[in-house]
Amino acid sequence: MTDSKEMPQFPEPYWRESIDFPSFPKLEEKIKVDVGIVGGGIVGVTAAYLLSKQNLTVALIDAGVILNGTTGHTTAKITAQHGLIYDELMKHFGEDKAKLYYEAQIEAKQLIEKHMDEHNIDCDYETQDAVIYTNSDDYITKLENEKTAYDQLGIEGDLIDKIPLDIPHKKALMMKNQAQFHPLKYLKVLAEESIKNGAQFYENTTAIDVEYNKHPAIITRDGHRIICRYVFVASHFPFYDGQGFYPTRMYAERSYVLAAKAAKKYPRGMYISAEEPTRSLRSITVNGEELWLVAGENHKTGQGKATLEHYQALQDFAEKHLDVQAYAYRWSAQDLTTLDKVPFVGRISAEEEAVFVATGFRKWGMTNGTIAAKIISDKIVGNDSPYEELYTPSRFQADPSIRKFMRINADVAKHLIKGKLEFTDNRIQDLAADDATVVRLNGRRAGVYKDKNETLHAIDSTCTHMGCEVEWNSGERTWDCPCHGSRFSYTGDVIEGPAKRPLERIDIEKG
Ligand code: FES
Repeated sequence: MTDSKEMPQFPEPYWRESIDFPSFPKLEEKIKVDVGIVGGGIVGVTAAYLLSKQNLTVALIDAGVILNGTTGHTTAKITAQHGLIYDELMKHFGEDKAKLYYEAQIEAKQLIEKHMDEHNIDCDYETQDAVIYTNSDDYITKLENEKTAYDQLGIEGDLIDKIPLDIPHKKALMMKNQAQFHPLKYLKVLAEESIKNGAQFYENTTAIDVEYNKHPAIITRDGHRIICRYVFVASHFPFYDGQGFYPTRMYAERSYVLAAKAAKKYPRGMYISAEEPTRSLRSITVNGEELWLVAGENHKTGQGKATLEHYQALQDFAEKHLDVQAYAYRWSAQDLTTLDKVPFVGRISAEEEAVFVATGFRKWGMTNGTIAAKIISDKIVGNDSPYEELYTPSRFQADPSIRKFMRINADVAKHLIKGKLEFTDNRIQDLAADDATVVRLNGRRAGVYKDKNETLHAIDSTCTHMGCEVEWNSGERTWDCPCHGSRFSYTGDVIEGPAKRPLERIDIEKG
């Protein structure tokens, strides 16, 4: 944690820095379990806990470090107020399903509370009201429509004119009795309990495929197998598609978070703007000191302005409205949104009975992720879930998804073509330290990063997923793909899928 008005030089989420979490070995052998889980975020860890409690043998693997992906970079609001959503869900799915969506979030909140009680978990849990505010006349009507949807669905909420923040606003919609917490303090205990129940955790173990013999087997990059009765793909972007065409049905967005110490005292509540650019606020307490979390600036991964400008925009907002004394942390997150905004949770495809997936939480992973783990765990132990049909990945609602489907896939095609045609006359000699550029090396498009010691790192800039061209992310020093959100370190290693293979490294001397 820094204590200056300068933005921290390196991104680092508070959550991960503030807990001691053990590291786990790499999988080095063939193993056999009831359930193989891929992905160590809130979904994977909650499912490992629920399933191991039912005396099933569980192995959870993560390509990187457990609890360090999207779950480690969240703002950790436990709320059923997912922006403006209920009016849209009612129009798109009908009243019954909109209500089910709300009930799923409330059940997730209750499940988190139950686990906290059962294991006496101290995770900075606080009941807070959730509030969407607007300063736009257009959005006042949208808030009013959302309130009408609340009333029809039996959601307790109030339209209010004033919120206790010095931020311009004309109207707000409050959902009472939601919550916030420290997600990793909570999940650390679920992970420990899972291990006590016999679950095995492995890190730095990348799953690359699922194969079938008598049973499904997860295949790792090192050629090891986890033979299972069931596979649960909880790897954010599904590492295995199962012919579910997930890349065409979801898009990836990045968003940014600053933690700031301010002269102004944080009022109670969790806030989010209805209109763009999104501004989301909550507080955290670090060593007895109150910090404001200021989040927002969403954009499609690998697209838009330079990443540091997004942090700068949040900083400008904080300076203007908070009376900032110091910036303690900054970090960013990546989230996936499905075409109809409801996550995909269920069988990965109709043909594959024993492979389940959970993805597409649209930034609301604390509740959607928890309920996803419950739905799949129930399914595996033979219990039906009332939410199964709502979340099923095999649904296809034509309107408005189809228009968005066309737009998203046209966007992908544009980036595929752009990469092949774009000519660049950037020169490595012009690169400043800690900066990157795209150049032609022997006719090949290459990304080159010059680190602080002036060492050059060059990679082939064609994404190993489906061939789009990656873009430099100056805030995180990564190469990000605009098509489906794969992210790579400056040396080309995969940080985030769907890509499974690293970018090819190029020896600049040889080209
Ligand atoms: Fe799909 Fe890069 S993530 S092409």
